[in-house]
Amino acid sequence: MVFSGEFHPFRLPAPELWKDVLEKFKAAGFNAVSVYWHWGLTSPREGEIRFTEHNDAQKFYQVAKDVGLLVIVRPGPYVNAETAGGGRPPRLDDECAKFSSYECNTISFCVAPIFAQQTAPFQYPDGPVIAIQSENEYATTSQQHIPGLDEHMQDIIDTMRECGLTRIPTIHNDKNPSGQYAQPGQGKVDLYGWDGYPLGFDCDNPSRWAELSTAHDANHQRWNPAEPLALFEWQGGSFSYWSGPDYSLCYQLINEQFANVYYKNNYAAGVAIQNLYMTYGGTNWGNLHTHTLYSSHDYGAALREDRTISPKMDELKLQASFLHASPDYLLVGRIGNGTVGQGTAYSDSPDIYTTHLHAPQNDVNFYFVRQKTNTKTTDTSFTLRVNTTLEGTISIPKSGSIALAGRESKILVTNYPFGSSILHYSTAEVMTWATLDGVDIIVLYALEGQHVEIAVVASGRPKVAIAGSRAISATTTNGLITFSGSVSGISVATFDNKRVIVADKKSASSFWAPRLSTSSADGVSHYAPTPDVPSVLVHGPYLVRSATKRGQTLALTGDLNATTTIQVFAGVDIRSVTWGGAPVNVRRSELGSLQGVLSFPRSISTVEIPNLQSIQWRCADSLPELEPNLDDTDWVVTNKTSTTRPQQPSAGKFVLYSSEYGFHAGQWVWRGHFSGNATGVQLSIQGGFSFGYSAFLNTHFLGSGQGSSHSQDGVDILSPSFNFTQDQLRDGDNVLTVIHDSTGMNQDYNINDEHKTPRGIRGYQLLGDNGIEFDTWKVAGNFGGENAPDAIRGPYNEGGWWFERVGAHLPGFDASPWNTSCTPYQGRSTPGVTVYRTSFSLNIPHDADIPLAFDLELDKIQPHRVLIYVNGWQFRRFISSLGPQASFPVPEGILNHRGNNEVLISLWALNSGGARLTKLELSKRGTFSSSKTATVSLVKAPN
Ligand code: GAL
Repeated sequence: MVFSGEFHPFRLPAPELWKDVLEKFKAAGFNAVSVYWHWGLTSPREGEIRFTEHNDAQKFYQVAKDVGLLVIVRPGPYVNAETAGGGRPPRLDDECAKFSSYECNTISFCVAPIFAQQTAPFQYPDGPVIAIQSENEYATTSQQHIPGLDEHMQDIIDTMRECGLTRIPTIHNDKNPSGQYAQPGQGKVDLYGWDGYPLGFDCDNPSRWAELSTAHDANHQRWNPAEPLALFEWQGGSFSYWSGPDYSLCYQLINEQFANVYYKNNYAAGVAIQNLYMTYGGTNWGNLHTHTLYSSHDYGAALREDRTISPKMDELKLQASFLHASPDYLLVGRIGNGTVGQGTAYSDSPDIYTTHLHAPQNDVNFYFVRQKTNTKTTDTSFTLRVNTTLEGTISIPKSGSIALAGRESKILVTNYPFGSSILHYSTAEVMTWATLDGVDIIVLYALEGQHVEIAVVASGRPKVAIAGSRAISATTTNGLITFSGSVSGISVATFDNKRVIVADKKSASSFWAPRLSTSSADGVSHYAPTPDVPSVLVHGPYLVRSATKRGQTLALTGDLNATTTIQVFAGVDIRSVTWGGAPVNVRRSELGSLQGVLSFPRSISTVEIPNLQSIQWRCADSLPELEPNLDDTDWVVTNKTSTTRPQQPSAGKFVLYSSEYGFHAGQWVWRGHFSGNATGVQLSIQGGFSFGYSAFLNTHFLGSGQGSSHSQDGVDILSPSFNFTQDQLRDGDNVLTVIHDSTGMNQDYNINDEHKTPRGIRGYQLLGDNGIEFDTWKVAGNFGGENAPDAIRGPYNEGGWWFERVGAHLPGFDASPWNTSCTPYQGRSTPGVTVYRTSFSLNIPHDADIPLAFDLELDKIQPHRVLIYVNGWQFRRFISSLGPQASFPVPEGILNHRGNNEVLISLWALNSGGARLTKLELSKRGTFSSSKTATVSLVKAPN
């Protein structure tokens, strides 16, 4: 079973934190991670391919190898991923008439071989890479008009092979189960699979569920029955849009109940490869987003943007642990499925839908039960007819009934082996099991208060001792011990060579089943996927990262969020326990565990962080372009008169598309010069959804605007018209200054070159009865354009406003001449842009993990837009009137947690009253005592 989570390393640009994310995946039972690589980041200019820092594929593979996770690599060339251009470098937009087609292959292949060469040394078993994806959701049927698609696909596969990726399968993630590249012919991949987002991206309706698909198996039989059933992307969360729902609502939509019901529906179809998209979403820092979504890429994923663990991770841990502990699952065939009403006799309730899988080798039965319809959200009670080896067909439970909550699904097993023992049947679910010094321990769970009945095969009539919660009692008959009761807390029953742990679901979630290593590096086998039975169980801590046996000592590492009671279930040869290297005072508990208390260090709970309101700020006006005598002779003259882009200019002689002049991201300043008596101007400005602009004639403010739409198609185009007054005009040269931002480039999901949709001024016209025209237009974009010198933060990090062009956002910038009597809390009283700079120190202990965020406040009355630059990294865009995001976590490594930090805030006031920040605070997203890694240092990047 490949139990994989999606993570885009470039969305966490502090690579020393990758290990933390991957260790959390691993601890939750994932054995694989799936990654996209972003061609636009790796190859910002022709002839250059960089694998630095957040693009460093080999560094990532090494971390995965060290942690023990397998890797599915998805290098595109196109990735979609809600990222700028879908990962295509915008510099290529004008070079290729149709992008995703055969004719562009020479360009695509600048990057594919390099990714392949980087990846080849890390192929399994030398490294963790087990599969390579060609293209992304690439389709032919709906795109018949584009010739050469299949050849393009085949060429990519051939290139991967020629460049050394010879030992691992190629894969394809079909948009729908429509068999694209599953059949013999050009472009066929080794492992075909498909993607699914059953609830779509409707976080506005966070409790609306769709019905479950029962077609997985039929699709699998139709397209690739000889291959494992693979879901290369399955909904793990959802993106959200500017002005839309906060990610807490996306989490609510795709929460632990969704994970429980929808993923178990996948297992009921026998899925053997499942990748949850996203499992850690990260951040769209520095203009990495496509225009439909905002800075956070939290995605409502199991691991939150600030790397804290959500309850969904607990649910996934229960599922992954079960699947890895149940090798028989991979050998199943389907016996039947349906409801009573459909002629099956599994359950006595017409409200229950059952799927019965059977693994013949050990005669193990798996029953997947769920509500027949997702419109029913109330509990259902039922009994289930199951096959058993011992008693033939029986109804369980023998007394009472099984309770299924409204949004719940259960996997119930019969004749289930654990070590040398057999679980005859159980109405509680299995989390995992382990054999420790000849004792078979199994962990079973149900929701608190649910009645369960669990029957375990015994030898004769053994004496049963029950410790812990007395919610469960045992009945002994010859050869069988039956436990029953309403689950609450943790009950531990001991008999024969067995220990049966029955826990309520919340308590079960606090179990960790780390793979026990006997030395720090135990070779390739540490990511061998199955059978993956743990050999210690640890209960209590917020996170257990590793367990190493050193003589009679069990050395554990992990994280705490409070003082915690720890229970270690290990072999009798383990006598002592250390936590993060320090001895733990343990004693043998009545549960049979080694029990101790891990105290939360006061040095961590009392860490203080700066109050931004009471520190020194300096400010500068960032629109010197409005000064009457500004010299723009060095600016780029935008004098192209034609473009190959599908969207042609709507009016005016010159093409004012920023990308045509090498400026692809962020924000721009446009200056149009004219002389004479124009009476006004008509503009058409295009910056992606929810972009903003302000226009000025000479020093006079004309007006501002912002988009607000959020549909998946098209872009926002704002078309203001301004009348000039005589006092605004000058004799001789007049300058119309337009500043605007972009919320990110379009993607090319439908393979129709949508990513070429321009940003800039789509059209313009001076008004006046004498046919008056602009003489010249000029633009200021990011420093250096495509040749931007900052190879670490990369091509998308900054835009082209004054403060960015002079490098005021970079560490070490000398702001001493700036004004000291201003703060962002005072703001400005006129429209325009002011930048504020400050610095502060943090002194967070090495053994603490305290994710920090900058918190602002929405403000529709005085609309403003803010960029937050932290040590030179653009860690977010805030739009006060749209939001929804107002709290912006910045990872350690971008923030220096042990030293100085330089922060620049740009405040763009859109309306005549100006604007100020009513709130700007540093806040803690959590306080953990952590063994994540000894040092996360500030990412080295240019000043
Ligand atoms: C898929 C696509 C991913 C991502 C996802 C939605 O269709 O392959 O790249 O865009 O949708 O988040």
